[in-house]
Amino acid sequence: MSQQHAQRVVAIYPGSFDPITYGHLDLIKRSSGLFDRLIVSILRNEAKQPLFSLEERTDMLREVATGFQNVEVDSFDGLLVDYARRRGAKVVLRGIRAVSDYEYELQMTHMNRRLNPQIETVFLMANDAYSFISSKLVKEVFRLGGDISELVPPAVLDRMLGMAAHRVSDS
Ligand code: PNS
Repeated sequence: MSQQHAQRVVAIYPGSFDPITYGHLDLIKRSSGLFDRLIVSILRNEAKQPLFSLEERTDMLREVATGFQNVEVDSFDGLLVDYARRRGAKVVLRGIRAVSDYEYELQMTHMNRRLNPQIETVFLMANDAYSFISSKLVKEVFRLGGDISELVPPAVLDRMLGMAAHRVSDS
C-alpha cells in the first residue's frame, strides 16, 4: 500500500447545529463513508444566543450519530483551521443547499485557505429532499405551531416538544 493510501483522512464537519436537522444527518451519513474519521464539531459561540445549550446540542448529535463507528462529536472555539490542525484533520466538510449558500461558503473557504492552505474544504450538495431545511426555519416553523416531524430526527423533536410543554406549564 502506498504511503498516501496508508494515511488516514480526518474531516471536520463544523457548524452551530442549533438544532441538528435531517439535512445535517444526511451529510453525516454520506460523508462518514468518505473519510476515515468524521468529527462533527459544534462552534462554541458566546455571541450567538442558541435555542439549545452546547450540552444539549452535543447530546442530540451524539444520540443521532450513534451507529456511525467513525463519527465523533466535539466542540470548538477560536479559528476553525487551528482546531482542525490540532485534531489532525486535513478536510473541512460543508454542505451546500442552494446557490444562496454558495457566497458565504466561498468567503469562508478562501479565508480558511489563506489562514491555512494545508486544509481543504470539501462540499457535498444537500440531498434535494433536504435542500430547503435549515435550523433557523425549523425553529421558526416550530415556534409558530407547524409540524417539524419530517425535518428533524426524533431526538430533536422530543426535546423541542419537551421545551414547549415546559414553557406552557410554567406560564
Ligand atoms: O452552521 P454555521 O453557523 O453555518 O457554521 C459556521 C461555522 C461554525 C462553520 C463558522 O462560523 C466557523 O468556522 N467559525 C469559526 C471561526 C472561524 O474560524 N472564523 C474564520 C473563518 S471564516
